[in-house]
Amino acid sequence: LDNGVGRTPPMGWNSWNTFFCNINESLIRGMADSIVSTGMRDAGYQYVVVDDCWMNPNRDSGGNLQADPARFPSGMKALGDYIHSRGLKFGIYQAPLDKTCAQYFGNYPGATGSQGHETQDARQFAAWGVDYLKYDWCSPSGTIAEQVATFAKMRDALAATGRPILYSINPNSIHAKTGPQRDWGDVANIWRTTEDIQLVWKTDQVNGYPMGVQNIIDVTVPLAGYAKPGGFNDPDMMEVGRGTLTDTEQRSHFAMWAVMAAPLIAGNDIRSMSAATQTILKNPRLIAVNQDPLGRQGVQVAGDTNQRVLAKRLSNGDVAVALFNQSGSTRTIATTAAAIGKSGASSYTLVDAWTGATTTTAGTISAAVPAHGTAVYRVSGGTTGEPSTPAVFSLVS
Ligand code: GLA
Repeated sequence: LDNGVGRTPPMGWNSWNTFFCNINESLIRGMADSIVSTGMRDAGYQYVVVDDCWMNPNRDSGGNLQADPARFPSGMKALGDYIHSRGLKFGIYQAPLDKTCAQYFGNYPGATGSQGHETQDARQFAAWGVDYLKYDWCSPSGTIAEQVATFAKMRDALAATGRPILYSINPNSIHAKTGPQRDWGDVANIWRTTEDIQLVWKTDQVNGYPMGVQNIIDVTVPLAGYAKPGGFNDPDMMEVGRGTLTDTEQRSHFAMWAVMAAPLIAGNDIRSMSAATQTILKNPRLIAVNQDPLGRQGVQVAGDTNQRVLAKRLSNGDVAVALFNQSGSTRTIATTAAAIGKSGASSYTLVDAWTGATTTTAGTISAAVPAHGTAVYRVSGGTTGEPSTPAVFSLVS
């Protein structure tokens, strides 16, 4: 979407993965403070996104959205001011139909959606200082045409406010197992590619749900052609730092999100994150790959059920290559400079994104990668063309 924002994938934090509906203004303020004090802001994490359950389920007598008076007694304008005072940006959640998705999760009824109130709500968000709207289709039905028309209404209402607001959509009734089935770049800055991420490496899917990290990678890799400045595939908020996944799996999760040009939206509790989690989330080399202004998503240049090789062309002519091991044991994964689009040099320089170590190669790029691990190198030297693409992209189920 050509609205001036989201020229690179957004980076930030969202309340949902860790807190679900258990949010309030002091929690969000504390998180903003920690995003600053831990150096996450300076690493690039900008947006503080308040997900579902911030609302009073009902509108006021003038039809205006209002904050839940018990949990956000100071109101959303004050919260936005606080977030801005910390040098951060303010994100908020809403749904386009009658109710928010919290209707599906436990005790919370789901608050009023924006249906029929798009202009009023967009103005309200702008007046509160909102910089990012997550807009979430919360219905088991809806054709693609209905979704396009409905999401476009809020796109236009946001544009009419004159405030630059990053527009994040979740067309969730139709992506199922195969991705969003449409390039949403005419409608939104980022669009979800799967059902909600779960804190698990891989699951047996039932109608595309639930989604583990590996399942989401399977669906999102073939969508590389949609990504561009202003429009990116969104494989959902990160589960890094939330336990359960091994350190290797968390590194892979972050590396693959970086190379897939995914939004880097942390979902962990920033106030208590470990040094190991910080090392992953603040990795400057992977963040630079993710935030590269060319806005490419890494394309798969080779792969089978055990491994994937992704190449992401970068604006200065370098290419980032990811060697992703999706098998259950250590594998040596290899590609070549030619396969990732590099040519014309007798020697190329590789910088290991994890260690920062520099090596050189005449052409072979290879690493012994642990089970569920990912090696990433930034490759420079020679001239750069488009990476070769495989004859067949097959989804691994
Ligand atoms: C949906 C979204 C989640 C979260 C919840 C909130 O499930 O996909 O990311 O926003 O709604 O209810």
